[in-house]
Amino acid sequence: MSGKGGGGVRFFLLMFLLALPVTVFGEYRTIDELAKAYSDEACKSCHARVHEEWSSSYHARSVVNSLGILREFIEVGLKKDWKKPVNREELMRCMGCHAPQLKDASESLIGEVARLAVAAAGEKEGGEARKSLERLSVNCVVCHNTMAGVERNLKGAPVPGVYYGPAGKATPAHGTRKSAALTSSLFCGQCHGIYTPPDREIVFCTSLYESYQDAYRANGGLKSCQECHMRAKGRGHRTPGSHQAEIVREGIGLEVDAAGVRLTPGQWTPAVLVSATLSNRAGHRTPDG
Ligand code: HEC
Ligand code: HEC
Ligand code: HEC
Ligand code: HEC
Ligand code: HEC
Repeated sequence: MSGKGGGGVRFFLLMFLLALPVTVFGEYRTIDELAKAYSDEACKSCHARVHEEWSSSYHARSVVNSLGILREFIEVGLKKDWKKPVNREELMRCMGCHAPQLKDASESLIGEVARLAVAAAGEKEGGEARKSLERLSVNCVVCHNTMAGVERNLKGAPVPGVYYGPAGKATPAHGTRKSAALTSSLFCGQCHGIYTPPDREIVFCTSLYESYQDAYRANGGLKSCQECHMRAKGRGHRTPGSHQAEIVREGIGLEVDAAGVRLTPGQWTPAVLVSATLSNRAGHRTPDG
């Protein structure tokens, strides 16, 4: 950089560097800071029942329950097979659903979380790395704020500190807002379906939302995920699934269908179709994942 214009360019660069800390403001550098900003502990005192239910759910273990495959993804996928850096963009391919709060982590914290995930995969219950990662999960703030912006296009990004709920009852404790989207299947489908990252290289765990749409809704099923997994039998925030016999039993039934005619394109063919099948009564394909 020489000549008359140099000072100007340097000045511009300096401005840019000075501006950087402002853009990184709000990025958390330690698990402690991040876990505090997204703490579910604060909710416990007032929403005790909900907190207890959620604590027993798989959402509360969404990182520590996935460590084995997470380690494979980091150690074998990223590092060996694809020769990619372990950075935010890559880790969010998993964490976008397993711990969305990591979007607010600094690059150094992302590196630390990846290191902890690899270490924790080899640890027993109660290990140090595992205990740190237990603090990251699909928790209250993730669902009632971060992911509540299903209607982002219409209503803008979620407002920090405001909790979006099915009724949005007012309280002096914190801001609330009514969100119809939170009670829709699409809300769950954000994570329980195929997600296409910006570079369109799809990594997915489940295509359950797609089977819900294509097999269940398309055949006249009317219930939402919340109706079967939360409202039915007061299941609430336990959201039971394939690990709980009470709901697995509901998914299996013996159904007998008899039909007097068979419709083939262009002609009616009289026939009797009787099919007795061990069928699936869940609102989607099972098993999944
Ligand atoms: C679009 C959201 C999404 C993305 C992206 C995603 N997952 Fe998942 N993952 C899920 C959901 C939802 C389940 C639960 C599936 C079920 O039980 O139907 C799950 C289940 C799992 C499980 C099984 C846990 C168990 O109960 O045994 C592992 C392991 C896992 N994911 C690891 C990963 C890894 C590693 C990545 C990144 C390469 C990743 N996931 C990316 C949503 C996602
Ligand atoms: C996986 C996403 C998810 C998580 C995690 C979650 N919620 Fe919810 N919550 C919902 C949904 C969806 C509803 C609406 C349920 C319905 O449609 O019947 C709801 C309803 C509520 C309600 C109003 C109804 C009621 O049961 O009182 C409160 C309050 C609430 N959640 C607080 C919390 C708190 C506190 C936590 C953490 C301990 C939490 N939620 C964790 C998704 C979640
Ligand atoms: C000091 C008590 C207190 C604390 C702490 C608190 N809440 Fe609440 N919250 C309330 C009260 C009271 C309501 C009004 C509705 C009710 O009576 O259940 C409410 C309503 C809500 C609703 C809206 C439910 C609806 O009507 O749609 C959500 C969602 C919610 N809280 C989430 C949270 C989350 C997440 C946390 C933790 C980050 C939290 N709350 C912490 C007292 C509290
Ligand atoms: C932020 C992403 C996210 C959202 C939103 C979300 N989930 Fe999940 N859910 C997960 C992940 C990740 C797991 C897997 C946890 C594990 O086993 O490691 C999971 C696990 C589950 C399971 C247990 C799966 C099993 O194999 O038994 C059920 C059931 C479930 N979710 C239902 C719901 C319903 C219903 C909603 C909407 C009210 C919802 N989830 C919203 C991410 C999410
Ligand atoms: C008509 C009721 C019904 C509806 C609607 C429904 N589910 Fe289920 N779901 C079930 C039953 C029953 C099971 C247990 C069946 C089994 O696992 O064998 C189940 C299992 C699951 C599991 C565990 C799957 C596995 O095998 O790993 C997840 C995750 C889940 N549901 C999420 C959802 C989501 C997300 C939606 C909405 C897109 C939804 N469900 C809609 C009834 C329903």
